[in-house]
Amino acid sequence: MLSDSVISQDVFNHLEQTVRTRRQDFDRRPRLDLGIDTVALIARVPLFAGLEPTRCAEIATMLRPRIALPGETIVTAGEPGDAMYFISSGAVEVSVRPNPVRLGNGDFFGEIALLTNKPRSASVRALGYCKLLELRARDFRRLLAENTHLSGHIRRVAGQRLDGNAARAS
Ligand code: CMP
Repeated sequence: MLSDSVISQDVFNHLEQTVRTRRQDFDRRPRLDLGIDTVALIARVPLFAGLEPTRCAEIATMLRPRIALPGETIVTAGEPGDAMYFISSGAVEVSVRPNPVRLGNGDFFGEIALLTNKPRSASVRALGYCKLLELRARDFRRLLAENTHLSGHIRRVAGQRLDGNAARAS
């Protein structure tokens, strides 16, 4: 149209600029929003639900939200453990014999390796999309040292799991 003098150079320049701007808008990626807010996730874990808001806020700084995809192996048997996980939503399967155990909303896993300093006792796989809260080993020790109620509960559950596994293996 420019070469046929249907449009002027000015109009051509303006059109070209418009196309450039629009292309840039298309190239700009939307912000990735996984919809995970640590405090909201914590509120869904009964173990944390009874804590004072200030305690909850403190704990929120130690927990990292994480999404696990369906079928993803989150923890692998025999590997060293550097974190434990709280399930805020979704379900996982723990590969213990003879029958796998299913854990869901509010449950936790990965605590045994941190408490015993031994390799992971089982593999844990996501059964669907899971929203998890990851607590790394260093923060785990700090959290347990500062919170006797939480520490007692996690140790009790770990003990029951280990006893159960030992009984099934014998
Ligand atoms: P860890 O050994 O760190 O990694 C595997 C995790 O599976 C383990 O911690 C526990 O959290 C979990 N686990 C092991 N045995 C059982 C069981 N019998 N029931 C539920 N969870 C278990």
